[in-house]
Amino acid sequence: MNKVDNFRLQFPNDNKEYVPIMIGGMGVDISTSELALTAANLGGIGHISDALITDVSDRKFDTTFVSDKRKQFKGSLNSPDKSLIQFNMIDIRQATKNHIGKTMEAKKGSGLVFVNCMEKLTMNNTRDTLKERLNSALDAGIDGITLSAGLHLNSMAMMQDNKRFHDAKIGIIVSSVRALRPFLQRAKRSNRVPDYIVVEGPLAGGHLGFALENWHEYSLPIIFSEVLNFLKEQNLNIPVIPAGGIFTGTDAANYLADGAGAVQVATRFTITEECGLTNKAKQEYYRAEEDDVEVNTTSPTGYPMRMLRYSPSIGGKMKPNCESLGYLLENGTCSYVEAYERAKAASVDGKTFEVFEKTCLCTHMQLYQCYTCGHYVYRLKDTTNRLDDGSYQILSAEHVFKDYQFSTENKISKPALIAKAS
Ligand SMILES: Cc1cc2nc3c(=O)[nH]c(=O)nc-3n(C[C@H](O)[C@H](O)[C@H](O)COP(=O)(O)O)c2cc1C
Repeated sequence: MNKVDNFRLQFPNDNKEYVPIMIGGMGVDISTSELALTAANLGGIGHISDALITDVSDRKFDTTFVSDKRKQFKGSLNSPDKSLIQFNMIDIRQATKNHIGKTMEAKKGSGLVFVNCMEKLTMNNTRDTLKERLNSALDAGIDGITLSAGLHLNSMAMMQDNKRFHDAKIGIIVSSVRALRPFLQRAKRSNRVPDYIVVEGPLAGGHLGFALENWHEYSLPIIFSEVLNFLKEQNLNIPVIPAGGIFTGTDAANYLADGAGAVQVATRFTITEECGLTNKAKQEYYRAEEDDVEVNTTSPTGYPMRMLRYSPSIGGKMKPNCESLGYLLENGTCSYVEAYERAKAASVDGKTFEVFEKTCLCTHMQLYQCYTCGHYVYRLKDTTNRLDDGSYQILSAEHVFKDYQFSTENKISKPALIAKAS
């Protein structure tokens, strides 16, 4: 019978075998170390994320990077001009060392832990900050880096002098052959082909690599087979890992039978104990109906993003918080700062207004108030038990992982019923 456990993932130049389940990166610390370590422990691959790394370090390791930065740049708190705000490279390095280093020290089992690195975190100095993030991650001992949200044309070159450049695995997330082609061309200059390619379709969570107007015209099975064919034409043997809407073990096994190296999945893990979302957010994911899921352009990155329509991040009036965070600043501004100023200027008293155009994504992700999710979030309620108080039972990541690995015939196994809500 077709099931994930009949398959194993192998990377080029590595004769080890892995359970072909990769839990995708979910920033900010939604895919926690604990979630990634569970996947590694079970022989698969987990991701942490380096989004808002200074904030993650402050929360977990008692550092004060965020408040120190706010103090340093407090001069622009009441100004839309954020051009003086800069990240300190030593802070990025130390925060990365804390988060990734400690995760890697805790790793057990035969699987791997990767970090998801979004190019769109422009940090008012994309080049230098990205170079620091990538090299600090390698130096902190990460098993692999998944390059995401952007074309990453320079990323390989930024790492090529690192002593772990050929030892860590490096992969990219793309949504088309058109995006993959120039990346491969540039990677050749650094004598490095990626070790894996995640092909993310239009039903994924987080940001989408498609336009708002036509994302629904694309389909993962088609893009996946286009990428497979393209690599065959180029004589490249690189594992291809589809992502986005793979909800059951059978969905996953079908891709593996069609030539996928592994699958990347995320939404089904959002309601696990190990996931970093708040308990409130987990229940909000569970209660979602299909009509509650929308793709909108409120993210200042410029990419469409999928989320629940009742996310607190939509229509807020959060004062821009770039002095503390500022991960999406580019050339001294962010499209949220601009939208905020426009809404404020249009209000009668300069105080009573809401900003629907964009959202302060850094702050809302930090507070777990942007309920980003894959399209099938509304099926999560079918994977668990409803408790006496009306809430849904939270699952363990091991339960969900094993359900993907061993289930057949599109069945999803529910956990043993617990007596009361957690
Ligand atoms: C809550 C959430 C946050 C996400 N954050 C990121 C992210 O920070 N970077 C990224 O590349 N992908 C992100 N994704 C996408 C996932 O890594 C994954 O590729 C995708 O959601 C898989 O589809 P599925 O959720 O339908 O299984 C996120 C997805 C979710 C559900």
